[in-house]
Amino acid sequence: TLITNGTVVSATGAIPHDVLVQDETVVALLSPGTAEATGITADTVLDATGCYVVPGGIDAHTHMELPFGGTSASDTFETGTVAAAHGGTTTIIDFAVQTAGGDLRDSLDTWYAKAEGNCAVDYAFHMIVGGVDDSSLKLMGDLVAEGITSFKLFMAYPGVFYSDDGQILRAMQRAAELGAMISMHAENGIAIDVLAAQAAARGETAPIHHGITRPARLEGEATFRAIQLALVAGAPVYFVHLSSSEALEQVSRARAEGHNVFAETCPQYLYLTLEDHLGAPGDDGFEGAKYVCSAPLRSKHESHGRDLWRGLRTNDLSIVATDHCPFCYKDQKELGREDFRAIPNGIGGVEHRMDLIFQGVVTGELSLERWVETCSTTPARMFGLYPRKGVIAPGADADIVLYDPQARTTISAATHHMTMDYSAYEGFEVAGGVRTVMSRGRVVVDRGTYHGSKGHGRFLPRGLSSYLR
Ligand code: URP
Ligand code: ZN
Ligand code: ZN
Repeated sequence: TLITNGTVVSATGAIPHDVLVQDETVVALLSPGTAEATGITADTVLDATGCYVVPGGIDAHTHMELPFGGTSASDTFETGTVAAAHGGTTTIIDFAVQTAGGDLRDSLDTWYAKAEGNCAVDYAFHMIVGGVDDSSLKLMGDLVAEGITSFKLFMAYPGVFYSDDGQILRAMQRAAELGAMISMHAENGIAIDVLAAQAAARGETAPIHHGITRPARLEGEATFRAIQLALVAGAPVYFVHLSSSEALEQVSRARAEGHNVFAETCPQYLYLTLEDHLGAPGDDGFEGAKYVCSAPLRSKHESHGRDLWRGLRTNDLSIVATDHCPFCYKDQKELGREDFRAIPNGIGGVEHRMDLIFQGVVTGELSLERWVETCSTTPARMFGLYPRKGVIAPGADADIVLYDPQARTTISAATHHMTMDYSAYEGFEVAGGVRTVMSRGRVVVDRGTYHGSKGHGRFLPRGLSSYLR
């Protein structure tokens, strides 16, 4: 296949190039006209006139079929990866979960079984370590050897996923030994549970109290503490779903000192706010539950959104991932109608990340190159998938998106492909849009029509991070 007349965008520049793909792989980038002049012929020509030709998106944070609060995230690996493909994301890194009392090995095998043969695009796994003990610490070595090279720990959710500081330190020491990455959910869950119980006792049970009882200071504090533990252990640390100015300040400070401290943010923290929990006039009084996620959305009256865009420019925020964790409003979010603590945490967005961050290019918050870097190239480097993924270069997998900056779309639950009966971005008008998506050389989406197949997506064993400083 020859992709002609487009502008190939990488993390370092945008250049008019034709891209030659053979089978599943990129074999050459050619100056316009070279293919003809040198007698290279292709069976298929994809005309990318007017389009940016970008490496397929890599969403480094998804939760397909995640069990949470007595229910389960509503996208399966099948539906969630089809939605990802529609949005120009050709790789997901999902979180396998160590179930309470289960060992890492069995838990990971459960995740392999959920995904195997079901995915539309390629996938990899991080491992959530829900119980740090001698057995888990030992098994981390086996997992690294089979391509699971990052481990998520939780300072939140006491009694569920939570690790105390001693467990965190031990897991970080083990990661340092293995060269693995520690991903951190940094919120002080012990303090949050006190605030949430106090709010509930006062009768403050509406969705907005989810956000109010998870103050940004307790994200900043946990972020600081995790950085200190990581420095003591000598391990790199990567903060997932960073939401606040307070947490960003801690990451920025550590990075200025040259440490291996990294962070991602998510579209919801750039576009949605605490006040969205109040719902709209005329709704049923509970619709703010649609916006319940952790870390929570922050107030529009504070500096968070502006600071996060700045962090994306300075690289204190290196990656945009979605933390795609969809629940339907009906019967799932509604579990918390009487008490915000029972609302399953999470927002679905795997389909809209490329579009939502492209808006930053449109408004001048980010360069075109930085869009590609934060959404594809750095995720590949951070999590050991580069240069197979994250770049259009000879030898790389042909995961390629033709992105039309002139397209216009409106995000809506009526048209999205995620298994959700609402969209957190309902009515958002987006400038730009995906035209064609290729996954390992095969066109899986073209002009809104799905041409892929269940099981095309393969498991990607990952190497160690190539992003450490
Ligand atoms: O609200 C969220 N983020 N749900 C998913 C679990 C997590 O902490 O990432
Ligand atoms: Zn988390
Ligand atoms: Zn998550």
